[in-house]
Amino acid sequence: MKSIKLTSNSSTITKRMAQKLATYLQAPLTLALDGDLGAGKTTFVTGLVNGLKNGRNIRVQSPTFALARSYPTEPVLHHVDLYRINDAVILDDLGIESLLFDSLALVCVEWPGQYPGALPPNTLWIFIKAKEKNQREIEFQFEDSVFDWTTILKKLI
Ligand SMILES: Nc1ncnc2c1ncn2[C@@H]1O[C@H](COP(=O)(O)OP(=O)(O)OP(=O)(O)O)[C@@H](O)[C@H]1O
Ligand SMILES: [Mg+2]
Repeated sequence: MKSIKLTSNSSTITKRMAQKLATYLQAPLTLALDGDLGAGKTTFVTGLVNGLKNGRNIRVQSPTFALARSYPTEPVLHHVDLYRINDAVILDDLGIESLLFDSLALVCVEWPGQYPGALPPNTLWIFIKAKEKNQREIEFQFEDSVFDWTTILKKLI
């Protein structure tokens, strides 16, 4: 795995970074968003949705209670939040599995550590860590061979 760390000094900057990243994304792709409560995972997903075609004016809400929401962007983006889940059977009952493996979509997963299975090997991992009140370290981890993330991620600053 390769890693790139960026710093964001406001939620607006985090959203802007994600918005830029969105323009490079192609389905199918899973983005795993890891980090403590309030780190900025949903903020990052908001930027992604707003950066996709047909997503500019969409308001993204945390799917913590709904568990998953899908946005009519192009490509479609599924936003899955596994905070309340730790049982593979429940995941299956809720149809979450079919969202996670939708080959036509971008799939953002908050609390990916709660997923009992394995996410796809080419998953882009995003670890967000609070540094100061409005400062976040955003670390991207990825398999280098699959896609040239390094070039793309350096354009986000
Ligand atoms: N640089 C920053 N990047 C992102 N969010 C920031 C930043 N600075 C401050 N914030 C604030 O931190 C909060 C992040 O909330 P958000 O819902 O995105 O977190 P989360 O990681 O999804 O939490 P949860 O695990 O509860 O779903 C927001 O209130 C946001 O305004
Ligand atoms: Mg969230």
